[in-house]
Parts: sequence; C-alpha cells; structure tokens
Amino acid sequence: MKGVIENISVIGTGYLGATHAACMAELGYNVLGVDIDPEKIDSLSRGELPFHEPGLPELIRKHVDSGRLRFTTDLDEVGAWGDVHFIAVGTPQQAGGTGADMTFVNAATRSLARSISKDALIVGKSTVPVGTARRLAALVEEESAEGVRVTLAWNPEFLREGFAVEDTLRPDRLVVGTSDAADEAVLREVYSEALSRETPWISTDFETAELVKVAANAFLATKISFINAFAEVTEAVGGNITTLADAIGHDTRIGRKFLNAGVGFGGGCLPKDIRALQTRVGELGLDHTMRFLDEMDQINLRRREKVVTLAEQILDNELAGKRIAVLGVAFKPLSDDVRDSPGLDVAVRLFSSGADVAVYDPEGNRNAAKRFPRLGYVDSLTEAVTGADLVVLTTEWNEFKALTPGDLESLVAQKQFIDARNVLPAEEWEGAGWRFAQLGRFF
Ligand code: UGA
Repeated sequence: MKGVIENISVIGTGYLGATHAACMAELGYNVLGVDIDPEKIDSLSRGELPFHEPGLPELIRKHVDSGRLRFTTDLDEVGAWGDVHFIAVGTPQQAGGTGADMTFVNAATRSLARSISKDALIVGKSTVPVGTARRLAALVEEESAEGVRVTLAWNPEFLREGFAVEDTLRPDRLVVGTSDAADEAVLREVYSEALSRETPWISTDFETAELVKVAANAFLATKISFINAFAEVTEAVGGNITTLADAIGHDTRIGRKFLNAGVGFGGGCLPKDIRALQTRVGELGLDHTMRFLDEMDQINLRRREKVVTLAEQILDNELAGKRIAVLGVAFKPLSDDVRDSPGLDVAVRLFSSGADVAVYDPEGNRNAAKRFPRLGYVDSLTEAVTGADLVVLTTEWNEFKALTPGDLESLVAQKQFIDARNVLPAEEWEGAGWRFAQLGRFF
C-alpha cells in the first residue's frame, strides 16, 4: 500500500467498530462501516445507535450528516474502496466452552480479503487468542487476488465502555504488531494526530500485540479479584477494605485504580478474556501458567454469591415473597451493557429463590429484559424501592451514589440495604437506623 490514506473501512459495527468508525471520521478520513446485520446498518445510517455510549450518537450523526461516514452491508463495495480496513468484529465466549469464538473474525477476514481489489492494509482490532494474526496473515495472502498487495497488521484496542470516544480519540498508548515496516508506516499515518501529541507508540510483532491486549485485561481482572479476596478476609475478621485499598494504593507501584472491592467485574471483556487466555495457553501445553486466572474468576463469581448470602442473612433465610429492589443491572455505570453483569446475576439468583424482585437501572433495563423477561422491571428508583424489604445496590450510577437514608425512609417497608459497590457512607445509614451491609465489611 502506498500513497496518502483517505478511505478507511471498519468491518463490524458493534461497540468497538461503531466507535472506531466515528472517531476515524472525526480525524478527517472518509469512513465506510460494514456489517452483516442490515437493521444495524439502517439505524446507524440514520445516525441512531443501538446501544448506550455517551457522546457517540452525536459523533455518528455529525459525520453521517457531513457525508464523511457511511454504512453498508456490501463488502464488495468496501473492498474496492478502502485503503485501510479495520476488523472490529466480536470474539465472544464459545457457546458451551471457555475459548474465544473465532467464527466472525475468520469469516470477516476471509470475505474481506476476497473482496479487495486494490492495494490495502487489513488491521485486526478484535481481541483474539495469540497466534491468530499470523494465521490470518497467511489466509489473507492465500485469499487475496493476484496483482494486489494486501497485508495484515494487529492493533489492539483498549477503550472502556462509557468512555469509548475519549479513549479512541485520545488513547494512552498505541500498539501495533506488523511483519513489515511499510505496514507500520501506514498505521503511523492513520494515527498521525495521536502521534503529534506524543502518544506512546509501541511497534512490535503480531504475538506481542495480541498478548498485550489480553495481558492488560487479565491484570485488571486480577487487581479487582485481589482486593475482593481481601474483602473476604475483612468480612471474617473485621477491618475496612476501602481504607486498606486506599493505603496500599498510595504506593505508586500499586496504584489505587481498580482496587474497588464490591460485587466484582462483569461485561463483555474481562470475564471472557481471562477464560479465553487460560484456554489458549492450555492449547499451547501451558495449562499451569495461567491457572491463577481461574482463581480470579472464582473469587469474582463468589462475590455474587456473597450478596445473595447477605440477603438471606438479612431476611432471616426466607427470600420467598420478600420484595427486593435491585438497583443496577448494567455491568457498570454509563453503559446499558448487561453481558455477564454482576447485578443482573444477583437479581436472577434472588428471583430464583422466590423473591419478588424489582429491577431499576437508568439504562440497562431494556437489555436485561431481553435476557430475563420474568424479572420485574420498573422505570424509576422510587418505584423500585417502594414497599421493599431490602434494597440492593449493584451498579454505582451517580443516581444511586447520591442516595441518603432520608430519600428512602418513607418508601421502603423495612430499612434494610446491601451496598454491593461500597459507595455509600455506612455509618450514616446505620446511624439512621438501617441494617446496612457492604462487601468486605463485618456484618
Ligand atoms: C475493559 C478494560 O478496562 C478496557 O481497557 C478494555 O479495552 C475493555 O475491557 C475491552 O477489552 O474491550 P470495560 O469492559 O469497559 O473495559 O470495563 P471496565 O471499566 O474495565 O470494568 C470492568 C468491570 O470491573 C466492571 O464490571 C466494573 O464494575 C468492575 N470493577 C472495576 C470493579 O469491580 N472494581 C474496580 O475497582 C474497577
């Protein structure tokens, strides 16, 4: 590939792809987003987003209107048009397994390579098991037409839901795995705006680029489970888990971020990525190497059980018929994503034990209802807590963090609360006569 890059395509317009496409348009490129789902393409073409992400609908509308951003289902159009093609399709956990389901990445790469009719660079962004890029590079070579030069690079993405636009436009580092200096030069051009701000640029091989992504997520998951393991200790002997996190966090080698004890991690990335990593190293004959990640997974899942146990303790082992308000089913605030959501899992467990569960989440109800239609979904915090024998806070939305005992007193049936994200001042609630439990706190 040579010359000035003008046309960028993004294959897969889910979370990652839609964000990447809009941000590339914001950087001044002509962008074509492609997806096999015609409904998704229709709504994006109207400037509508099928999921919640602050700032993204505005950015999409801005560039759909400016004509710089278009969407299509036609891969042949893309192949004749793009200088650089980003692959941003999903790699979910395999149904019935723990590895990554590579069906979409494999199919997208193969079809794209076949459709390309001018020199181009394909750039993988999806989170994949190590070894994928090298395999796909060979596939691209095999499938692309004679006479056109099509190569592959790997460029993992580190964006967080809720901050997707900001993280994409102003990444804290850029990692590119290439097998050819010319491909790196193309990516330097694509990201020239970030490079002009001296964003760290890590140029490496395919395997390192793939592993950086899963190593980062595995480390974050480990940090959360590490503090949550200590929460199990302070629950047994007393002590304050937040103070403990603050104290070790002052050591700059450790850092305070991602040391918030609570009901643990969820979402479409951390849980499936640690499982996929373990599965992949197992395939490489290194089963023992990442065994600690299984422990991190178990610690994480035990936190959900702990919330149910606390509910039983508070409600005298009788959940049946009790009204429980669950505040938060999005896996984290500023998102409507309920994939592997701790809050939704807790709500379902309470419901399965016979409780009358009232779920309220500012953004997550709709997706949760698609998965578990039998839970009781309500449209407001007030509705959720009215008549409740127990209130359980599972996602730290600002609306919930601002709650005071006085807000709820006249609404609930019993003054009982589990703050499963440790965001409310326990003494204040206890002082107001509430039975008040948190994770990592003697109860
Ligand atoms: C995560 C990573 O943070 C991103 O860098 C990465 O790009 C992304 O996965 C991905 O692979 O696509 P995300 O899934 O958006 O991003 O969510 P996080 O902000 O990492 O939170 C993950 C979970 O950990 C949430 O359920 C959150 O509530 C929980 N968490 C986080 C804690 O329980 N305690 C903490 O201290 C921090």
